[in-house]
Amino acid sequence: MRQKIVAANWKMHGSISKIKLFMKEFLPLAKFFVEELNRQCIIIPPTIYIPLAQELIADTGIKIGAQNVYPGVQGAVTGEVSADMLKDYNCQYVLVGHSERRQIFKEDAKFIAQKFFHIKEYGMIPILCIGETWEERSAGLTEEVLTKQLLPIMSEDNCFKNAVVAYEPVWAIGAGKAAQPDEVQAVHSFLRAFIANFNYNEASLLPIIYGGSLNEKNAVSLLQMPDVDGGLVGSASLEPQKLVEIIKCIN
Ligand code: PGA
Repeated sequence: MRQKIVAANWKMHGSISKIKLFMKEFLPLAKFFVEELNRQCIIIPPTIYIPLAQELIADTGIKIGAQNVYPGVQGAVTGEVSADMLKDYNCQYVLVGHSERRQIFKEDAKFIAQKFFHIKEYGMIPILCIGETWEERSAGLTEEVLTKQLLPIMSEDNCFKNAVVAYEPVWAIGAGKAAQPDEVQAVHSFLRAFIANFNYNEASLLPIIYGGSLNEKNAVSLLQMPDVDGGLVGSASLEPQKLVEIIKCIN
């Protein structure tokens, strides 16, 4: 059975007071789904708020993730955070390859692969984000772009064991309009089949989640698709009720 996941990517949003307020509303609403129904919920706050979020979610079954990590042990890397530091605060998941990191910070496939394996080496679970731009989709290049983003990761055996892939079409991120459920299903089933050519078992166990304007309204239709194993939620995850509505849609 594949694990169904809802991950909340808060990006560069929040403050101490906002996060406390969020949790005050969110935790009682989410409790039943996380504790009784065992639904996997991961909160991914800005790095500086990881300790606060971790403290607030203690003993709830909710997991904490990080938005970034530097693939080195320690040293003169101003502004970065290491895997050991994230582990000190019990982070279990780390985003890698998000289109905002690829575009704004020019992170390339090689660096992303380095981060991906570094996260795994430290016993955390990478959430590898991949996705095509609108121009690439319009030119019929979606599958080619996605496989190019996957291949550097696939250089090692068992690469997708204890990993998550998030399909996030760049054109749907922050757009207010998600991809259509049948479009998403088509891509997810392509990705699973592509990975299955290399390792059938890993492909069938790999959670492939969808991100890009996923919200409480479109979650029902998107998350019921057979190859969609949950969602990576940006703006809608900043509102407790919306996030809970999305968690309700995975089963
Ligand atoms: P969005 O962001 O839900 O605001 O589109 C998703 C993401 O970038 O992970």
